[in-house]
Amino acid sequence: MILITGATGRTGGAAAKELARRGIPVRALVRNEAKAAPLAAAGVELVIGDANEPTALQTALRGVSKVAVIFPNGEQQLALEKRVVDVAVESGVQHILKISSMESLPDARNATHRVHWDAEEYIRASGKPWTMVRPSFYMQNFFSNAATIKAEGKFYYPFGERGAAALSDSRDAGFFAAHCLATTGHENKSYDITSGDQLNFHEIAAVFTQELGRKIEYVPQDPADYRAYLGKFIKSQWHLDSVCGIFAEIAAGYVVETTDTFAAVTGRAPTSLAEFIRQHRQVFTP
Ligand SMILES: NC(=O)c1ccc[n+]([C@@H]2O[C@H](COP(=O)([O-])OP(=O)(O)OC[C@H]3O[C@@H](n4cnc5c(N)ncnc54)[C@H](OP(=O)(O)O)[C@@H]3O)[C@@H](O)[C@H]2O)c1
Repeated sequence: MILITGATGRTGGAAAKELARRGIPVRALVRNEAKAAPLAAAGVELVIGDANEPTALQTALRGVSKVAVIFPNGEQQLALEKRVVDVAVESGVQHILKISSMESLPDARNATHRVHWDAEEYIRASGKPWTMVRPSFYMQNFFSNAATIKAEGKFYYPFGERGAAALSDSRDAGFFAAHCLATTGHENKSYDITSGDQLNFHEIAAVFTQELGRKIEYVPQDPADYRAYLGKFIKSQWHLDSVCGIFAEIAAGYVVETTDTFAAVTGRAPTSLAEFIRQHRQVFTP
């Protein structure tokens, strides 16, 4: 049995469904049973509970051989991931996979990147075989720009004129994680995964223009104004500071390189930005 956490989310959902599709026994620890209905329909066993509750974690990890640690960014992420690792080790789990991020490096200063790196180190120190899956900037982040792309043909970020990103699709990240859990040879490996697209945000707008058949423009924003706008949605100061810090790094020109690891390991090409937009055309079309 393989346990997937974060399975009502983007990466975990894709991982759990792919394991079920391969006929591999898979369980998900979910907080919201209604939200998890598509997982149950796909054949994923559900344990209802919060990863903060020790008894829910113990129940979810009973009889589990491998676990995928997948949690959203936030101040509580490191403590939560450490708790899952501790209970996994106590429960006799033999392989721990974590969704991390490519920007998470030993000298990372941004709080979100540090959390990922520190969680990776905690897993490596557990003594259990591990796999780190480290995607780059998710294309799914553009769903948060869908309203203005639809209404105005514009999207807004504080990335200046030259900010760029190596893009990856969260469905590919989930698929990749499932592949590593379903096949052998991934023990103690760290995989940086991206699509082939490393683009600045004007170039990203040009791909939207080409695929949607109408002009889409990236409009750089003043960082302080954007922080004030984001503050309406992100209530945690820790999280707001971290997101704005990541955005400032992108604006200053920090960008990771693309890798061919996804295709090399899975034998399948990663989703390109053009494909992602085509597949979600209705989300971006008025
Ligand atoms: N966004 C990017 O560009 C990017 C790039 C690279 C890596 N990543 C990494 O990818 C990871 C996963 O991101 P995602 O976008 O797939 O996340 P997501 O869609 O926000 O999903 C988060 C999942 O965690 C679950 N969860 C949160 N707290 C929980 C708790 N206490 N107990 C049980 N379940 C809990 C959520 O459940 P509910 O449905 O109940 O809320 C949801 O299923 C993150 O760590 C992120 O750093 C993201």
